Amino acid sequence: MLYKPNYKDDVLTSEITPETDYINRRQFIRGSTKVAMAGLCMRHQLVLAEASSTDSQVQQSPLLFSKATSQHRSNEKHTPFKDASSYNNFYEFGTDKTDPKRYANAMTISPWSVRIAGEVKKPGDYFLEDILKPHALEERIYRLRCVEAWSMVIPWVGFPLADLLKRFSPTSKAKYVAFETLSRPSEMRGQRSRFGTIDWPYVEGLRIDEAMHPLTILAVGMYGKSLPNQNGAPLRLIVPWKYGFKSIKSITSISLTEQQPPTSWNKTAANEYGFYSNVNPEVSHPRWSQATERRLPNSLFKPNRIATLPFNGYADQVASLYAGMDLKRYF
Ligand code: MTE
Repeated sequence: MLYKPNYKDDVLTSEITPETDYINRRQFIRGSTKVAMAGLCMRHQLVLAEASSTDSQVQQSPLLFSKATSQHRSNEKHTPFKDASSYNNFYEFGTDKTDPKRYANAMTISPWSVRIAGEVKKPGDYFLEDILKPHALEERIYRLRCVEAWSMVIPWVGFPLADLLKRFSPTSKAKYVAFETLSRPSEMRGQRSRFGTIDWPYVEGLRIDEAMHPLTILAVGMYGKSLPNQNGAPLRLIVPWKYGFKSIKSITSISLTEQQPPTSWNKTAANEYGFYSNVNPEVSHPRWSQATERRLPNSLFKPNRIATLPFNGYADQVASLYAGMDLKRYF
């Protein structure tokens, strides 16, 4: 960043997701959790993608989730799973777009725990299973716009971050939410590199109203199955109206704070990456325009350049969060 088959709503995910790229069988959604979620999801249409991979070594767990409601669907063509899982930014595994898929399998994601800390009444270290247990999973089809000016349309599976935060009872001092990614150099070759620009672990943050916004989700899956490691397994943030680097992967800590928390790319180059980083075609990156984006997959002959929309097309839902703010100054 610094230097350097159509998924249709009316078919089962398993019928249209290419299976050959699946990695890492995982069972973090255990039988009991499924039963609990089924109860919670009864009012919605449920989809259980079939595990039918032919690749014995590499596949992901199917998830039980309710399909995207009209509010969270998109008329745009979904990015094929193959592209969404092989063209990635996950600097913990290297800076090349192909590095995450190649190396992220080294990351152990089970067991996994998440620290809930700071301005909450119920802090603690929780197993992922306990973090997920009460939440019904739902599909959200969102645009993902990277600050590097490429974009995708991805069907995520997750649940609102607000629902999780409320469970731990934020105090009145909680003004921001700080997130941290796993720090494990033994499994993350990018963290071992002597040429890295990021001060590990990768950290991100949101204002509390952004974190509580109904569009903000924690994702555990995509295309109907658990997240591939390279996409941020087992738990990542998705904030669709912000540049992709805000959507921190493989989260191990969520902390509510009174002060605005530091963020990795802002620490690396404050003049290039702001805390807010709302998608904004009118505010250029110092080294390139943000007016358009390259929608993946694309090629030399089919560049697929489209106009970038304010707040990545979610302005009607989120612009009010920034009423009165100078978005050129708070970029
Ligand atoms: N999270 C961590 N921990 N490390 C990273 O390097 N890259 C970010 C974000 N989350 C990153 C991260 C960037 S720049 C983008 S564009 C998105 O992840 C990419 O998500 P994807 O690979 O699932 O498309």
